[in-house]
Amino acid sequence: METIFQVEQHKEILSSVATIISVDSNCLETKLTQICALLKQEIKTYDWVGFYFAKQNTKTLHLKAFSGIPTDHTVIPFGKGICGQVAISNKNFVVDDVHAQDNYISCNIDVKSEIVIPLFLNNENIGQIDIDSNTINAFNESDVILLEKINEKISNYMLSNKLSINIS
Ligand code: SME
Repeated sequence: METIFQVEQHKEILSSVATIISVDSNCLETKLTQICALLKQEIKTYDWVGFYFAKQNTKTLHLKAFSGIPTDHTVIPFGKGICGQVAISNKNFVVDDVHAQDNYISCNIDVKSEIVIPLFLNNENIGQIDIDSNTINAFNESDVILLEKINEKISNYMLSNKLSINIS
């Protein structure tokens, strides 16, 4: 259930994301890192926030920005874990309880729930935002909508400035 607090908070976050994106002096990866930090700071149940981007020729996801405890899983093969499954399905994945998942990669033993929302550029799934929570069942439809909107803002910015993510 979405609360009035969430509605207001998400509006403010979207406005801050728009501001982060509009600052010309920062590169795309800096903007993504700032968006991760904003989300982690503003939403109590968001304990780790990151953006992975796809490298199509190796079928791998690469961590390009994050806020939270550093993870060993900076490269994830398509199909592996929640992130890797989204790289193939092109669908949002909300996991209420990570321990109930067989195909899950643990980054930190405290994590209890997770959400992954794909990022589309010209209808192509080029990456994703991934959020871990130390609270079980931390994500609802309102989080899905917020994160879809953030990904759309990033994608529109990349399109209008002809930007791509550099994966070495
Ligand atoms: N849990 C993810 C791996 C990435 S970490 O959460 C940072 C997964 O199962 O794909």
